[in-house]
Amino acid sequence: MYLQRLAPHIRMPKGKGAFDLGESFQMQRNYISSVRISSPVDEASYLHELPVVRHLTQMKELVFSKAVTFLVGENGTGKSTLLEAIAVAYGFNAEGGSRNFSFSTSETHSDLHRHLTLTKSAFPKDGFFLRAESFYNTASYIDELDAIPTRQPHIVASYGGRSLHKQSHGESFLALVQNRFGGNGIYLLDEPEAALSPSRLMSLLVHIHELVQNNSQFIIASHSPILMAYPEAEVYHLSEDRICSVDYKDTEHYQLTRRFLENPERMLHYLLEGN
Ligand SMILES: Nc1ncnc2c1ncn2[C@@H]1O[C@H](COP(=O)(O)OP(=O)(O)OP(=O)(O)O)[C@@H](O)[C@H]1O
Ligand SMILES: [Mg+2]
Repeated sequence: MYLQRLAPHIRMPKGKGAFDLGESFQMQRNYISSVRISSPVDEASYLHELPVVRHLTQMKELVFSKAVTFLVGENGTGKSTLLEAIAVAYGFNAEGGSRNFSFSTSETHSDLHRHLTLTKSAFPKDGFFLRAESFYNTASYIDELDAIPTRQPHIVASYGGRSLHKQSHGESFLALVQNRFGGNGIYLLDEPEAALSPSRLMSLLVHIHELVQNNSQFIIASHSPILMAYPEAEVYHLSEDRICSVDYKDTEHYQLTRRFLENPERMLHYLLEGN
């Protein structure tokens, strides 16, 4: 009630007490349980100097043991590059979509996937690679497929029945998760927060939780201190120096946002007046 008064858009879980937060958040077996670099990256490539690649090369593997893993860290540390390479190595289209999507608007993805080995511990029934930056192209591809005459039901039906282009960025993003993500799946999300208002971001948390309860795994690159609060998630912090697991409340995202919101005037004073 409190939350719904505060933000009426938030979608609450179905039924009273639908989730037991004490329940194990650990899946029996994750679909992707680890990633490692299995062949050297060409020294002439920019990838060779990318922090995430340097550290992954030194590490034995990066383990995904929780149902939800976040990749966090400064801009440019390689979160999207790693997520994209995992997605492509797993068989997803580099620009996003399901595993059967095959559109390409520009060949800009790196060849890091060729150097990765994923440990696949179970087979998902569903999957999606969602990237905020090329979501427009994913929506166009769905419209193009639906424009081809066929006896099959329109694809857009499984995306809420309305062209994603006829909804706002945030609405279409959430419609996709709500209607297309079916559970028992692997979902790779790159900055899903980009389109979402705070209340819709909280709705996304509810959806993620429902899907996790339905045997799904998420790997999410994010800057959102709301999203990365998901309980029992593994938060991997990527930096120039290393990749390490951190507590949510120790992330810079949490600390800095909290300090800002606690006293915006003070922070603005430091930022704008320089003392
Ligand atoms: N084709 C390319 N040639 C050279 N450098 C590239 C190329 N593509 C990406 N990079 C560099 O790789 C680095 C990592 O990019 P990436 O998009 O993975 O960062 P990120 O951690 O996802 O950042 P953000 O938080 O801003 O999304 C960046 O510094 C980027 O400039
Ligand atoms: Mg990125």
